[in-house]
Amino acid sequence: MCSQWPCFDPPLRLAVMASGSGSNFEALVEATKKKLQATVELLVVNNHGCGAQQRAQRLGVACEVVDHRGFNSREDLDAALVKRFQDLGVDGVVMAGWMRIVTPVLIDAFTNRLINIHPSLLPSFRGMDAIGQALASGVTITGCSAHVVTADVDTGPVITQAAVPIHPNDDHAALSARIHRQEHKILPWAVAIKGKEWRR
Ligand code: GAR
Repeated sequence: MCSQWPCFDPPLRLAVMASGSGSNFEALVEATKKKLQATVELLVVNNHGCGAQQRAQRLGVACEVVDHRGFNSREDLDAALVKRFQDLGVDGVVMAGWMRIVTPVLIDAFTNRLINIHPSLLPSFRGMDAIGQALASGVTITGCSAHVVTADVDTGPVITQAAVPIHPNDDHAALSARIHRQEHKILPWAVAIKGKEWRR
């Protein structure tokens, strides 16, 4: 378990934020059962009934719905998240398909401890529908990036990336599936890399 992957004793304590299907969340949880010495203390979702919530139930991970629609501002939402994460004493927070722009309220409370996964080779194709942007651009290689979240969207320091080829007849679904397979590998590794810094 500790050959290539760093050892964390006690294991890293993580919180995960997700909005959609939650496949990256599940990949992270599965990694904690193998190479990544970490525990996912809490999954937060903003969409009731989303796939990520269902996966948490199946995997036995605590999940709370923090619905952005119930808050007056992005800052109020983020303040609620910060309180929850600080109460849990997590080492780091992973945005695994969190489809909300986060504010300095969250970013500054978890400086260098907030990780995002994005489906492009940053700095290419920032923002919404990075996969559609890549397909429309005509590039033949795209990928995924795990990066530290900073104030500007999708611009924080890259932790690790994977390149993914675009095949001539790819549609959105085919390319998305190929990118997801790489995301599931690099996200746990990005947590391990950052975890070493957090525990230094
Ligand atoms: C992932 O492809 C992730 O890179 C993307 O959302 C998807 C979530 O998939 N995130 C962004 O686009 C953030 N800008 P999942 O719910 O199956 O993990």
